[in-house]
Amino acid sequence: PVLVVDFGAQYAQLIARRVREAGVYSEIVPHTISAAEVAAKNPAGIVLSGGPSSVYEPGSPDLDHGVLQLGIPTLGICYGFQVMARQLGGEVAKTGAREYGSTGVRLTAPGGVLLSGQPEEQTAWMSHGDSVVKAPEGFDVLAASESTPVAAFASDARKLYGVQWHPEVKHSQFGQRVIENFLHDAAGIAADWNSGNVIAEQVEKIRAQVGGGKVICGLSGGVDSAVAAALVHKAVGDQLVCVFVDHGLLRAGEREQVEQDYVAATGVRLVTIDAAEQFLGALAGVTDPEQKRKIIGREFIRTFETAQAELVAESAADGDPIAFLVQGTLYPDVVESGGGTGTANIKSHHNVGGLPEDLQFELVEPLRTLFKDEVRAIGRELGLPEVIVGRQPFPGPGLGIRIVGEVTFDRLELLRHADAIARAELTAAGLDGEIWQCPVVLLADVRSVGVQGDGRSYGHPIVLRPVSSEDAMTADWTRLPYDTLAKISTRITNEVAGVNRVVLDVTSKPPGTIEWE
Ligand code: XMP
Repeated sequence: PVLVVDFGAQYAQLIARRVREAGVYSEIVPHTISAAEVAAKNPAGIVLSGGPSSVYEPGSPDLDHGVLQLGIPTLGICYGFQVMARQLGGEVAKTGAREYGSTGVRLTAPGGVLLSGQPEEQTAWMSHGDSVVKAPEGFDVLAASESTPVAAFASDARKLYGVQWHPEVKHSQFGQRVIENFLHDAAGIAADWNSGNVIAEQVEKIRAQVGGGKVICGLSGGVDSAVAAALVHKAVGDQLVCVFVDHGLLRAGEREQVEQDYVAATGVRLVTIDAAEQFLGALAGVTDPEQKRKIIGREFIRTFETAQAELVAESAADGDPIAFLVQGTLYPDVVESGGGTGTANIKSHHNVGGLPEDLQFELVEPLRTLFKDEVRAIGRELGLPEVIVGRQPFPGPGLGIRIVGEVTFDRLELLRHADAIARAELTAAGLDGEIWQCPVVLLADVRSVGVQGDGRSYGHPIVLRPVSSEDAMTADWTRLPYDTLAKISTRITNEVAGVNRVVLDVTSKPPGTIEWE
C-alpha cells in the first residue's frame, strides 16, 4: 500500500482518496507510527499529510526520524513538507508571510519528475504560516511563490519530495497531477487498484472467514448494506440470508426496489418482515422527536431479533448455526474510531434503527477499507441498479421523523406522495448530483388557509429541505432553480390532497439540522 501519515485528520482522508483515484491502494496511519511499523507494512510509498500545527510549537506532531531513512519514496505535503525539511537539515522559519487560499506558484526547475508536464505558472491552494526558507542539502528547489522561496523540493536520488501547497485539494490546478507523478513516475507504483480487483480480493477474504457458516445481513435499502450484502452473496451464495424490515416509514417504492430490483440483480435470499402495524401501533399518540426515535429503534431491534431467532431455528434444523453478521462499515468510520479492529468500532447508528449490541455474531465487514464513492463503484460493478447505488442518504427512522406531529398511516401516505413528486422532479431537472439529500417534511399539526378551485381550503404545509454537504456534519441549503421549485410546488398542491402550501427551508446546518426532528 501507500501509507498516508496523518498529521491532522481532515486532510489525510482526502489524500487517501486522491491516491486511490490514481489507482493505488492507500491506508491512513497515525503520525506516531514507528519506523519499524512502517517497514513492517512494506509500503510502496509514503505521503505525509498537512496538519494544523506549526513545527515550532512544543509538542507539535513529529515523525519517527527513522522513517525517512528507510529508502521508501516519500511525498511531504504542507506540514508534512515542513517536517521533512526540518528532519533532513533544511530550514523552516516564521517569515510572517502567511498564504491562505489560491496562490500563484512559479516552477523554478521545470523538468523534475514531480512537477513534469506542468506549466511554469500555476495556482495552488496554500494554507500555512511557516515557510521552508532553505531546502535540505542535495535537494533541488522546484517551485517558489511570492512569499515562499522554497514551495517545493525534490531529491530524485533519495526519492524524497515535498510541496508546500495542497495537491489533494481540487483548487490546486495541477494537484492530482502532482500526486500521480509522485506515485507512478517517482515511486514507480502501478495503477492497479480498481473495483474489479477489490471485489476479487474481498470475495476471497470473505470465503476464508466464513467457510461453510451461515451469514445474516440486515438490509436497510441504503447503499452500504446493499453493496456489502451483494459482495458477501457473490462470495458465499445462499449461505447468506438478508433481512429487510418494512416498518411502514419507508418512502414510495423503497420496498419494491429491495424486493424486486435488488433481488433480481443479485439473487440474494431475502426475508421481508412486515412490521408496519407494529411500528405504527407503538408510535400512536407520540409527538416528541426523541421519543419517536427511541420507539423506532426499540421496535427495530425486536423485529430483527425475531427474524434472527427464526433463521437460527431453521438453520439449526440443517445442522449449521448462523454465526456471522454482515455490516456495511466504511473506512471513514474505521479511521475516526482509531483504526482498530473488531467489534469496538460498531456505532449503533450505522445500522438502520440500531442493531442490538449483544447479538452473538462474528462481524463480516467487507467495506471497511473503502470510501463511499468506491462502494458505489463496486456496487455498479456488481450489477446493482442505479436506484440503489445512486441513492441519497435516508435516515433509519425514515418518514417517522419527517412528520412533525403524530405519525399515522394517512399522514405517511400523504408524505410519501409529496416526497415522490419532489424526488421525481429533482431527478428530472438533473439536480441529484448537486443535492446531498432533500428531506420532504409534513407539518402535520400546522394548517393554513388557502383557496383551491372556487373554495376555501384549510390544509397542511409541506417543507422542502434540499441541502448540499460533504459529510452531513455541516450543510448549506441548495439554491434550486426557481422553475424546479415552482414545478414541485404546483404539482404537490394540485396532486396531494390535504396539502395547500409548499415552503422552502433556507437554513444552513448549523444552526438547523438536516432533518426536522
Ligand atoms: P441531521 O438531521 O442530524 O442529519 O443533520 C444528519 C444526517 O444523518 C441522517 N440521520 C440519520 N441516519 N439514523 C440514520 O441512519 C438516524 O437516526 C438519523 N438521523 C439523521 C440524516 O438524514 C442526515 O443525512
